[in-house]
Amino acid sequence: MSPTVIGFIRTSLVSLVAGVTLGVLIALGLFSGANHPGYVTSAHAHVNLLGTVMMLIFGVGYHILPRFSGRPLYSEGIARVQLWINISGLAGLVVMFFIAGYSEADLLKFGVAPFGALYAAGALLFFVNMWKTLAAAPPAPRPGNLKQ
Ligand code: HEM
Ligand code: HEM
Repeated sequence: MSPTVIGFIRTSLVSLVAGVTLGVLIALGLFSGANHPGYVTSAHAHVNLLGTVMMLIFGVGYHILPRFSGRPLYSEGIARVQLWINISGLAGLVVMFFIAGYSEADLLKFGVAPFGALYAAGALLFFVNMWKTLAAAPPAPRPGNLKQ
């Protein structure tokens, strides 16, 4: 496995622990005094979805999709940049959802959205890297053109 793939998977594992722990703490009512408890729930939802689920999909995708397509990954450099963009976007987004939960001001637009845009930029890099990798893949062999 490449260090980038391991980075995505480690981020997913850390998010899993943070996400389920936060879920239990929410259920215990630890954040019920927040100004906007719904935003704390959103921090939990997104550390699980953008952190655990998406980062695992990126990591496993980077490992297996080039192998399935029979071509090397289009750019290891893009993958490495994407990893750090997504880690920064995820951390910022989750922290901002949390702060928004306790803030009087509505921090969605100027706090959550910029980090969301950063995470979305990382997702766009995944799109480009995978699209280019798959575009270079040879067609799958069919029974008619298999050599004996
Ligand atoms: C030990 C594991 C977990 C616990 C104890 C837990 C607990 C909770 C609690 C207490 C809420 C707030 C419910 C409410 O106020 O209505 C919630 C919401 C949510 N959780 Fe979890 N959760 C866990 C794992 C997960 C995982 C693994 C995911 C996603 C992969 C997830 C996704 C969500 C989402 C999307 C919401 C928001 C739902 C909505 O807005 O209706 N949770 N969770
Ligand atoms: C950069 C990416 C994303 C941003 C900036 C973002 C932002 C938001 C915002 C602002 C809300 C409304 C929160 C509220 O009003 O309480 C929301 C809700 C939600 N989002 Fe996302 N989202 C992103 C990606 C995703 C992804 C990839 C998933 C699923 C895989 C997802 C699942 C949900 C769910 C289930 C809710 C409703 C539950 C809740 O937050 O309470 N989001 N999102």
